[in-house]
Order: sequence, then structure tokens, then C-alpha cells
Amino acid sequence: MKVLVTGCCGYIGSHTCVELLDNNYEVIGLDNFSNSKKEVLDKIKRITSKSIKFYEGNMLNEELLSRIFVENKIDAVIDFAAYKAVGESISIPIDYYINNVSSVLILLKVMKKYKCKRLVFSSSATVYGTPNKVPITEDSPIGGTTNPYGTSKLMVEHILKDVYKSDPTWDICILRYFNPIGAHSSSLLGENPNGIPANLLPYITRVANGKLAELSVFGDDYDTKDGTGIRDYIHVVDLARGHIKALQKLEKEKKGLYIYNLGTGTGYSVLDIVRTFEKTNDMKIKYRIAPRREGDVASCYADPSKAREELGFECEKTLVDMLKDAWNFEKRNF
Ligand code: UFG
Repeated sequence: MKVLVTGCCGYIGSHTCVELLDNNYEVIGLDNFSNSKKEVLDKIKRITSKSIKFYEGNMLNEELLSRIFVENKIDAVIDFAAYKAVGESISIPIDYYINNVSSVLILLKVMKKYKCKRLVFSSSATVYGTPNKVPITEDSPIGGTTNPYGTSKLMVEHILKDVYKSDPTWDICILRYFNPIGAHSSSLLGENPNGIPANLLPYITRVANGKLAELSVFGDDYDTKDGTGIRDYIHVVDLARGHIKALQKLEKEKKGLYIYNLGTGTGYSVLDIVRTFEKTNDMKIKYRIAPRREGDVASCYADPSKAREELGFECEKTLVDMLKDAWNFEKRNF
């Protein structure tokens, strides 16, 4: 089975390529390296001893996308090609909507033309806005997103539902990720954000290696056990495995539109993460309590039971695995 992976060199895309190759899928990759590096292709090869057929370019390039479909008999697409920095999306919303929404419209148009109607889409727990209850189930209300990144994911979910309604011969799986962290156990693949990291884990690893002075813990007055924000951190390799489960579901069940949370179901506070990182990696992380960050919610974690029951998906990695792998990746690469 041939799978087109857009954004194949990015953080989640690269780990998913490894899982696909290990599960004997043929992978066709597309990336424009806007937030990734070419060397990731070699690293995927070193880990799996297999190659992907790679195209360099932008998903907005309809001609290139069409050529990929003409040159390869694509059976399914996993779409990771998107911008993902929440803060940046507020400053450059037009770029975010073009890159995250228009690109999907072009992809859907080309897929339809070449009669490939099987898609796994990277969505995010951000579509739940401020959750009205935790753990969050897939039928919780969506909307109320607080930034263009989140709204772009919400828009695409609506588009996919409309596409499916218009033509139920599509089979689509929307995966709502919680907080992916960690790295491949080889330390060859991991998260490498441009500039100062906005997310908790890459920030902590840069404090750990001395590149940043201290972590600001955004708020200690939330209504949570220690006052700091609670999130559902999922190891990126588990998350990548979730995509294989989603593909297998679409292959087995055929037509349908399915939505799953991908999270562990356990929430950890910022201070839990700091303390577990310190203990796991035997070091101190300097931090100070700072004001709340705008747009943050107190608590966000998944009810993962639908993915468990319908996909047979369960997370295998622990928080300690996540924090050990994240630090090993940072140490060996930066
Ligand atoms: N945090 C800090 N200090 C930092 C960075 C983060 O205290 O320097 C805290 C946040 O306030 C929050 C937690 O750490 O409580 C996690 O923050 P992240 O920025 O790592 O992640 P978010 O939960 O804000 O957002 C992430 C992704 C989004 C995605 C969302 C889904 O960045 O793309 O999860 O819930 F949409």
C-alpha cells in the first residue's frame, strides 16, 4: 500500500514515516523544509534501512501534487503539512490560513481527481477551545478557538465533514492530538523548533543544556492540584503508531468519517513535568513562576477510550520515557 505523507520531515511526520516503513507501507514523502531539515530523510533511512520516495515542494503547488499522483498510485494520504506555532499564527494569520487551510483544499481537489479518497488528517485538541469538562471525549463541543492556528484546524475539520457529506465514498480519519513530546529512542529524530521554543518540553531541554537561563512557569493559580496547567503529554512514537492504527481502520472498515483523540488520558501539571524531568535525567531545572499565558486553559486531557476501543490504540511509553528521550535527543544533537 502506497501512502503519501505530506510534511514527512517534520516532527510528527518523520516519526510516522518510520512506523509506516516498519509496517511495510511504501512511503511517498513531500516536504518543503519550511520547518524541517533534509537530513531527516537520511535519518529515517538509518533507522528503518528503507527509503521513502521523496518530492521537495509545497502542497499549495497543485501541479506538483498532481504529478505525485500521476507518478505513483497513491492509496492513502496522511497530511501533516501545516504551520503549528500558536503565537506566530496570531501575527501572520493569512500565512496560516493559506498554508493550513488552502493547502488542504488543493490536496482534496487533487485526491478527488485521481480517485484517492482515503485521508488521515492531523488535527489538534485545540479544536475543543476551553473544554467544558475533562477528560475530553470526541463528542465534546468544538469551537471557541483562541488563535488562527487552532481556527485553521477547526476549519479543516468542518471542510472534511462537508466533503464526506457530499460524497460518502471518502474515508477520512481526523486525529486530535494532545501534547506530543519526546523523541525517537535512537536520538536521530526529535523536535527542533526554530528560535526560542514556545512549547514546554523544548524549552525545558534548552534550559537543561544551558542555552536558556530559566523556565517561566506560566501561572501557579489555576484551579489544579498545584496551581499550574495540566496537559496530556503523549510520546511522539506512540502518536505516530496511532496513525498506523487509523490507516488500518480505514482499510478494514472502508467508507466513513472517524474522529479520535490521541492522548494517554493522564494529565500532568507543569511542575510534575519539571520534577519528573529533574529526577529522570538527574539534573536541576531553574524555573520561576510567571504570569499566566494568554489563551491557556487550566486543564486539558483526553478520554482515550474511543481510540482504544475502535482502533485498538494504547500508549506504550511512560512520562519517564518521554522525558528521557527528549533530553537524549537534545544532548546528542545540540
Ligand atoms: N508552559 C510553561 N512555560 C513555557 C511553555 C509552556 O509554563 O515556557 C506551560 C503552559 O502554560 C501549559 C503547558 O506548559 O500549561 C503546555 O504548554 P505548551 O505550549 O507546551 O502546549 P499547549 O498545551 O499550550 O499547546 C499544545 C500545542 C498546540 C496544540 C495544543 C493542544 O502547542 O499546537 O497543545 O491542546 F494545539
